[in-house]
Order: sequence, then C-alpha cells, then structure tokens
Amino acid sequence: MAASLLAGKKILLGVCGSIAAYKACDITRNLKKLGAEVTVVVTDGGARFVSPLTFAALSAARVYGSMFAEAEAHAIPHINLGRQHDLILVAPATAQTIVRFAMGLADDLLSAVVLAATCPVVVCPAMNSKMYTHPATQANIKTIVDYGYQLVEPATGAMACKEEGPGRLADWPVIRDHLERLFTPQDLAGRRVLVTAGPTEEPLDPVRFLSNRSSGKMGYALARAAMLRGAEVLLVSGPCCLMPPAGVEVLHVRTAAQMYEAVLSHFSEMDIVVKCAAVSDFRPATCASEKLKKKDGALLLDLAGNADILRSLGDKKQQQFLVGFAAESQNHLAEGKRKLAEKNLDMIVVNDIKSRETGFQSDTNRVTILTHQGGVRELQLLSKEETAMAIFDEVVNLTGDGR
Ligand code: PMT
Repeated sequence: MAASLLAGKKILLGVCGSIAAYKACDITRNLKKLGAEVTVVVTDGGARFVSPLTFAALSAARVYGSMFAEAEAHAIPHINLGRQHDLILVAPATAQTIVRFAMGLADDLLSAVVLAATCPVVVCPAMNSKMYTHPATQANIKTIVDYGYQLVEPATGAMACKEEGPGRLADWPVIRDHLERLFTPQDLAGRRVLVTAGPTEEPLDPVRFLSNRSSGKMGYALARAAMLRGAEVLLVSGPCCLMPPAGVEVLHVRTAAQMYEAVLSHFSEMDIVVKCAAVSDFRPATCASEKLKKKDGALLLDLAGNADILRSLGDKKQQQFLVGFAAESQNHLAEGKRKLAEKNLDMIVVNDIKSRETGFQSDTNRVTILTHQGGVRELQLLSKEETAMAIFDEVVNLTGDGR
C-alpha cells in the first residue's frame, strides 16, 4: 500500500452520541491502517452507542471520557490532549457538540480539549436532516467555520430515522481526502488543473464498442494528487468504475469526440493539463442504429481516425503547461521524445506497458518523465498515487521560477 500522508501523525478522534458512532470504529481502524497514532475521546452520549472498550481495542491506546478522571488529573488532559496531537477529528459531531464548539462551552472533555487546542480541528456532522438544515445548526456551523474549524459536509441519503436528506456522516474516502490535504503542501493552490483519465468507447452499434484496457486508476490518482496539493481540478473521465475524489469536478464522457469537446471547451481556463486518458485512435466509420445481426463469415470493420486531442492542445497552447502520456511497449524514450516534440508538450510521462506491474489496470507504475528542456527523470516502481505525486513535483518545479 502507498505510504499515506497520515502515517506517523497523531490524531485525536472525538466521538459523539449519534447512531453514526459505530462508523467511528471503522474510522479508527482506517487511520491505524494508514499508520496514524489515534487517541479517542468519547462523549457521554458517544459511550452510550459504542463502548470505550471497543475504541481502546481498535486504537491500541487509552480512551478518554470524563474530564474529572482522578487517574488522569495530573496530566491535565483537557489542555494537553489538544497540544499533543497534530489534528483533532470529530466524527460524528452531533448538533449538541457543534453548539458547544460554537458557544465556546467547556462542559465536557471533548469540548474543553477543542477549546484549548492549538492544532487543526476537523468537524464531520452527522444528524437528522431537519436538525442539520435548521437555521440554528447552520448558524452554529457558520460560527465554527469562522473560528477556523474545518467542516466535512455530511452526505445525503437514507438515514437511520427513516428520513432522507443531508445528515449522513461523510464517507471515509471523503474524510481521508480532507485529512490528507491538511498535511500536503499547497503548492498548486490557485492553479486550475485539467486531468483526463480512463479509456474511450467508440460505438459500433447500440451494444458493441471498441475500447482499451485503461482502468482510470492513473488518471484518478493524478486528479487526487492535484486536489490534495490545493488545485481546482476538472477531471474529464472516460467510462470507468472508480469513485472520483471529493472536491474534484468531473465531466463524464464516452467517446474520443466527446472527450475532445470537453477538453477543448475548458482548455483556455486551465493552467495545467495532464492528458493521461487512453484515447482511441480509431472509431468505427459508421455506428449502426440497430444491433448488428450475427452472420456467417467475417465482418469487416471500416475505421475512421479520431482527432488527436493532445496535438490540438499543443497547437493552441498559450500559457498552459501541457503534460502528455505515452504508453509504449518498445523504444520508450525515443517514442516519448518524438511525441513530446511533435505535440508541442512541456512534459511527457513515458509509461512502460509491458510488465504486469505497470501501465494498464495495475495499482503500481514505472514511468520516465521527459521535459521540454531535455530533463530525464526515471522513477522506480511506485504506487500510482506516489507516481502522481512525483509527476506533480516535476510540474511544480517547472512551473515555478524555473519555467
Ligand atoms: O488507466 P490505467 O489502467 O491506470 O492505465 C494508465 C495508462 C496506461 C492508460 C496511462 O498511464 C497512459 O499511459 N496513458 C496514455 C495512453 C495513450 O493513449 O498513450 P498514446 O501513446 O497512445 O498517446 C499519447 C498521448 O496522446 C496521450 O497523452 C493521449 O492521452 C493522447 N492522445 C492520444 C490519441 C488521441 N486521439 N488523442 C490524444 O489526446
């Protein structure tokens, strides 16, 4: 698994009295799996839903509850806990606890710790949707956001109380993205980044298409890396089964022609474009309106060429920093250099697609980064998340003063 930005971080998890408290068990496990040290503070309400013993077992650490525990008095936990941690995550946060934070109350251990904290505080509300959307709760949320607390908005959907609406505790990937972003240098803040990902599908009839083996993993990892580094990200995605990272705008397309349209229509607004998608070079010259019938003998397909999106971007490029990919099975560097020059790119990421550990569908990748200035950086076998971060390291180097 990729080294997480949360590895080694000391995280205090506050758990309040909501039915979503059971999800805090998974949050504890997930944080531990990523290598974080977790200390849990459970409110009285939280302890009614999940026993502190459960959190002690999952976190492999002491769990805090009462502000007045004699055994802890010498350690002054209500002050020190918020100083000894890199981050406080309150998940789930109830309407009542949010009131405490908004009013600056310190009448239980969690609210006192948060009031005295010197580290970032991330609040993940979970409650009935009427409670969540009530002007009083919204005003309290605005107050704590104004204080500088970070809000991870709840998801919308069916709730334990059988009502529907906003109020479900945000899903773990959303919370994780939020936390990792806090520990990532914001060196792409203020930049608009467009990433393409996945394959394209070129229809032959209503049920058949030509496509390729791209899973979208590399492109989605790039979109996530740019988002974590503070960029405003537009992901133009071909058909794939991945969940887009939270906070990334997504345009779903199917064909190369649709991808061309989506990318070209947003190009002028962008600072950086990374074309990772495996775009089909050809499409069936005609698409039958009815399903083609099975016949004896061979079926000959007439193919038409698709426009090269990257080449069009290279032709139109002004201030944009343009990154292409090259999926190669032989003469990698020579082919990469040729595409870099022919398509007028600033950088190309040459992808060895011969090994099962690299290129299409794998979780890992091995790439060589070639730059317009003649730079060559060969990366070792890394997870696609780490590869994406390394690619943006190069982009940031070249789009700084050195460009
Ligand atoms: O999605 P995964 O399973 O994670 O796999 C990742 C990947 C192997 C797809 C990815 O790492 C990769 O190598 N993407 C580029 C694939 C590709 O189409 O390479 P190419 O050498 O055929 O094209 C060169 C460049 O031109 C690419 O940036 C491509 O997006 C672009 N292109 C190609 C054809 C076309 N009609 N329009 C384009 O813009």
